Amino acid sequence: MNVGIDKIGFATTQYLLNMDDLAKERGVDPDKYSKGLLLENLSIAPITEDIITLGASAADSILSDEDKETIDMVIVATESSIDQSKAAATYIHHLLGIQPFARSIEMKEACYSATAALDYARLHVEKHPDSKVLVIAADVARYGANTPGEPTQGAGSVAMLVTQNPRILLLNDNSVAQTRDIMDFWRPNYSTTPYVNGMYSTKQYLDMLKTTWAEFQKRFDTSLADFSAFCFHLPFPKLALKGFRKIMDKSLPTQWQEKLQANFESSILYSKQVGNIYTGSLFLGLLSLLENSQNLAAGDRIAFFSYGSGAVAEIFTGTLVDGFQEQLHSSRLQELNQRQPLSVATYEKLFFEEAQLDADGNATFADYLTGPFALKEILGHERLYGRTNDKN
Ligand code: HMG
Repeated sequence: MNVGIDKIGFATTQYLLNMDDLAKERGVDPDKYSKGLLLENLSIAPITEDIITLGASAADSILSDEDKETIDMVIVATESSIDQSKAAATYIHHLLGIQPFARSIEMKEACYSATAALDYARLHVEKHPDSKVLVIAADVARYGANTPGEPTQGAGSVAMLVTQNPRILLLNDNSVAQTRDIMDFWRPNYSTTPYVNGMYSTKQYLDMLKTTWAEFQKRFDTSLADFSAFCFHLPFPKLALKGFRKIMDKSLPTQWQEKLQANFESSILYSKQVGNIYTGSLFLGLLSLLENSQNLAAGDRIAFFSYGSGAVAEIFTGTLVDGFQEQLHSSRLQELNQRQPLSVATYEKLFFEEAQLDADGNATFADYLTGPFALKEILGHERLYGRTNDKN
């Protein structure tokens, strides 16, 4: 049976931090960020915009009423959870008005979990062909002001509707995963920001790529010549570029190498503007590729490298479907340009603000810009969300 991504949507914040401004303030050569990391802007979330509002916005941008009546599973993949018990998917299920007889869960393994969610969705639809599964990858990547990870922050969400006979990408039944119990990046329950062994994490990313790709090629008797594009987890685009160079096969015809190179460039355009959105970043790369590539056609195969610290990596593949272009946007970069730039001082206040709860667990917030959904207040420790145009 053909199962895969029928629709894909994206949401990010209404504020940005320009990398040149950050570089000036931190006394760093701006080229370090623009050329060394390949980043231009980062999306910055105020306290009223979190994984629930971003996830709901990304999904809201693609779902029809008919989808909402048919979806029977909502999976939110995240490492920026707002609750240790209640799944983010339950809030989003409610905000979107999805029919009640659905399963709603949250999944975690750093930046890898959306890949596992997508595979679970594929298996579910294979077993129940009339089902539709909503997979949402949503994260806010916060490392802290003046930390080495600061220039690789970001926030955003990618939502994907998984169905039979999808209109964008077939998910193929071939993948290789790899697990290594390592401490490259982790966030204990008592910390709002992660602990990071930055250089070690980049080495692990590249080595997991090399070894998983070698195993994938061996198991499925395939090579780069069978793929038109390779999408990578994008903690920052420069690392993916190093990964791309690592897997490049110089014996391929020059034209094929150039096609892969052009598609790689297309896949990093959105991340350059948004920063790291953790588990959604691989799929933001897919969206960026599909909406900006000039050389993709139905039947083309795309390889994906998913990496989540801790660490789990996976290589899987998809095949483009006839008419995939009709499901996409062409104005995404212009929309990203509409975000409001923040001074570094305002970013520091806004991005790291924490709720000031009174003795009864209530908190209210200043009126920040958000997408179509917002965290309205906290009442007796309950987070209350709604559409931005609703009064309550
Ligand atoms: P850093 O201190 O910026 O590193 O930390 P750097 O000094 O090596 O500089 C970075 C690059 O800028 C280098 O390029 C420099 O040469 C270059 P490279 O040599 O690597 O090609 N550079 C310049 N270029 C032009 N002009 C200049 C200039 N100066 C320097 N003047 C680091 C970088 C990634 C360690 C840091 O940003 C960090 O800790 N980030 C967070 C961790 C991270 O993103 N790790 C990625 C792999 S782990 C992963 O992907 C998982 C993750 O997404 C989390 C999850 O799974 O949940 C993070």
